[in-house]
Amino acid sequence: MLKVWIVGSSGQIGTAINEVLDPMEIEVFDTDKNELDITQTDEVLHFGDINRPNVIINCAAITDTALCEKNPELAYRVNALGARNLSIVASKVGAKIVQLSTDDVFDGIANHPYSEFDDTNPQTVYGRSKRAGENYVKEFTHKHFIIRSSWVYGNGDNFVNRVLKAAEKRELFAVPVGEIGAPTSAKDLARIILHLIETNEYGTYHVTCKGSCSRYELAKEVLKLAGKTLQLTEASSVALEQPAVRPAYAVLDNFILRIIDVYDMPHWKDSLKEYIEERMVRG
Ligand SMILES: NC(=O)c1ccc[n+]([C@@H]2O[C@H](COP(=O)([O-])OP(=O)(O)OC[C@H]3O[C@@H](n4cnc5c(N)ncnc54)[C@H](OP(=O)(O)O)[C@@H]3O)[C@@H](O)[C@H]2O)c1
Repeated sequence: MLKVWIVGSSGQIGTAINEVLDPMEIEVFDTDKNELDITQTDEVLHFGDINRPNVIINCAAITDTALCEKNPELAYRVNALGARNLSIVASKVGAKIVQLSTDDVFDGIANHPYSEFDDTNPQTVYGRSKRAGENYVKEFTHKHFIIRSSWVYGNGDNFVNRVLKAAEKRELFAVPVGEIGAPTSAKDLARIILHLIETNEYGTYHVTCKGSCSRYELAKEVLKLAGKTLQLTEASSVALEQPAVRPAYAVLDNFILRIIDVYDMPHWKDSLKEYIEERMVRG
């Protein structure tokens, strides 16, 4: 039975992996900050030594981009050195490692979807610390899957849930203008992660749902699927007082997935429909 350590298990993607995996096939070790802080090198090494996972999935990160700008030391400690610590464990116990990463490693000024072979050029502390995490993983392990995604939504604070919350409260909702991305459900990411860890197709992957849209189009689709109305306005990130400007063009090309032809991601509208329907059933 495969032993999988899910690090950052209470976050959006960690939760989705737990929902999707088959406990009859996988023995799971779930840890989050309360059980094990990934910045504590000796504790991380000790946990790995005792439990000897076959796969480590690192979903732990400081994902609040504003917090990263305010506290770069924290961002680098968790997003870079935390990933380093887990890579050292992976290499020591011979485990595969999955490192979640982000479109924020790019500058967001391209006019074509970024492929895995485009040069990174992060513009924010979050993006720079995530790139440093990727580099540590590459430096310390070779059995790695670096998975960059974008605009992820699942069980947590994200754009889709913020739109739904505002609709319930009948608030006016300001949508950042000029941002284009590929909304990707945490559940779809979980499914492909569980597929990839069974393979030896190591390397860096762009993994997003198919298609792309603006924040405004995404908000409209969320409202349509949920059968709700909400007054939307568009505002610049300066007007929205966002301290960390996100890449304007956040579309990733799933180039490697396409050329190795092992997995097909759904269209973002189909994934969103599944998510909203499940949310409505849960109430
Ligand atoms: N969300 C997106 O749109 C998106 C897009 C692309 C890539 N990603 C990447 O995907 C990964 C997971 O994202 P997510 O959306 O699931 O993030 P999330 O919901 O913010 O979850 C991150 C988890 O990491 C935990 N954590 C923070 N510091 C830690 C530490 N020192 N030790 C152990 N755990 C710690 C957090 O705990 P607390 O909540 O208690 O702090 C939280 O449970 C991240 O690497 C992120 O960069 C996300």
